[in-house]
Amino acid sequence: MTSVHDPRIIIALDFKDEASTMALVDQLEPSLCRLKVGKELFVRCGPLLVKKLINKGFDVFLDLKFHDIPNTVAAACHAAADMGVWMVNVHASGGRKMMQFARDAIEKSEHKPLLIGVTILTSLTRQDIAEVGLDVEPVDQVLRLAKLANDSGLDGVVCSPQEVSILKREIGQDFCLVTPGVRPAGAAIDDQQRVMTPSQALSSGSDYLVIGRPITANHDPLQALKDIIDECQNC
Ligand code: C5P
Repeated sequence: MTSVHDPRIIIALDFKDEASTMALVDQLEPSLCRLKVGKELFVRCGPLLVKKLINKGFDVFLDLKFHDIPNTVAAACHAAADMGVWMVNVHASGGRKMMQFARDAIEKSEHKPLLIGVTILTSLTRQDIAEVGLDVEPVDQVLRLAKLANDSGLDGVVCSPQEVSILKREIGQDFCLVTPGVRPAGAAIDDQQRVMTPSQALSSGSDYLVIGRPITANHDPLQALKDIIDECQNC
């Protein structure tokens, strides 16, 4: 699996400041993993930290889940592309026009990150989505939004490992699936609900695994990463 040219593990940098982020990142190698910067770290440290990570040779997934009017999301995607990130995401529920504008903005950029959709957040239950007016099974809505994302020119979606096989079957093998909710066998589940091991997630068709605490909270993060890579060697 994780070759030196295409690492499939994306480490979630859920840190509060640059010092603790770099304390971890300095122990990692760009040939073995990619990095995810989410809302907290970005709001605290901004584009300068993202550029620092890129300058160290890492591919960065900017996980800001843009959702706004098409023009605003397009401008934000253009800015992310200019920052040099490898992957950026938008909410698929922003609609076809918003996603198409995002696609066009990236196509016009010199650097072209992968453009990924967010469907239904895995934190939402059937009751939660009914309360906001969607009286459907979450998996049906996930599939609906993933198909719309594909039709609108997105490269793939973030999804739970449980949704991977149906999305690959219904949309196609080339549709890029990025999955959090991954835990090595025996690791703490933390606040994740339904988890798969890294090898199970890759075997079911996931393209990239987002993994945070099993690596970032380990006393030897590089070894924890290498152990996961070893587990997935034949996937
Ligand atoms: O530490 P852990 O492996 O649970 O981190 C998972 C990362 O993936 C976190 O940054 C979390 O915000 C993100 N994520 C998730 N579930 C989703 C979407 C994103 O865990 N449905």
